[in-house]
Amino acid sequence: MDPDVARMALEGLLAPRKTLPPSLFYDEEGCRLFYRITDLPEYYLTRTERVLLAEIGPAIAAAVGPGATLVEYGASHEEKACLLMAFPGAFARYIPVDVAAPELSRLRERMAVSHQAVNVEPVVADFMRPIVLAGLPRDGRVLGFFPGSTIGNLEPSEAISFLVRARETLGPRARFLLGADLRKSPSVLIPAYDDAEGVTAAFNRNLLVRLNREAAANFDLMAFRHEARWNDAESRIEMHLVSLRDQKIILAGVTVHFAEGESIHTENSYKHAPDALLTLARDAGWALERQWTDPAGRFGHFLFGLQ
Ligand code: AVI
Repeated sequence: MDPDVARMALEGLLAPRKTLPPSLFYDEEGCRLFYRITDLPEYYLTRTERVLLAEIGPAIAAAVGPGATLVEYGASHEEKACLLMAFPGAFARYIPVDVAAPELSRLRERMAVSHQAVNVEPVVADFMRPIVLAGLPRDGRVLGFFPGSTIGNLEPSEAISFLVRARETLGPRARFLLGADLRKSPSVLIPAYDDAEGVTAAFNRNLLVRLNREAAANFDLMAFRHEARWNDAESRIEMHLVSLRDQKIILAGVTVHFAEGESIHTENSYKHAPDALLTLARDAGWALERQWTDPAGRFGHFLFGLQ
């Protein structure tokens, strides 16, 4: 049993409104399922962002200048950064920051072959904590990069704190490129988080599989259903696991009771309107330089400089 996983799970499951921390999604199976999600027809985010990044690459390269340093937060794969690095000479140095050391060493191996002219310097760190990066240029040729709409998985106050820390890490003349899924009709959002094939449901239920394995729990997987809810007031998609019956489970020796219909709230994915995002960034000390969206206005990239 992993006592840290059990402690985190019990903290959420014993609260009046049950939750589980989204960080528990990403075990090996969770990562595999997430990569499948990004290819689903309903999950337009990744596809849309890729096309947008390929289009805006030249403008980004022109803004930061030649030989710049690209610092990517939450970079377990180089795919999106490579779309920005497709322009020869635009970036000389790439610093992927992530908690997953094995993913980062695989990334470095791949890029040693695919991008021999770029210095790849992975940093194993949690971007939710302060990070110090040595030797960043102070002449403005630094771009922070946070793609994938991961900003939407942070509470707005956490998003502001993250953006403040990024400003401190990257230095006084840096820029920051933020990729975010935007507020839109629930008729588009709900299927993106509750796909016909049931991959997102499996991703959500995998939390329970993980707790059975790592926290000595006895969840009956068939006794919980996946639900994606649109919370209009908070402008977010919520993922829940809803108990199909009155039941008790045991986790690390502790009994947790579920009423029929009671849910475990497992994830928030905020869908900020562009103005709301700009306000978050402004509160963190970043000023908008340019913004781009796809033709349908689903996904946005926002280039910030310091105020
Ligand atoms: C990682 N993150 C941006 C995804 C999202 O869309 O919020 C996680 C996810 N959850 C369900 N599907 C995808």
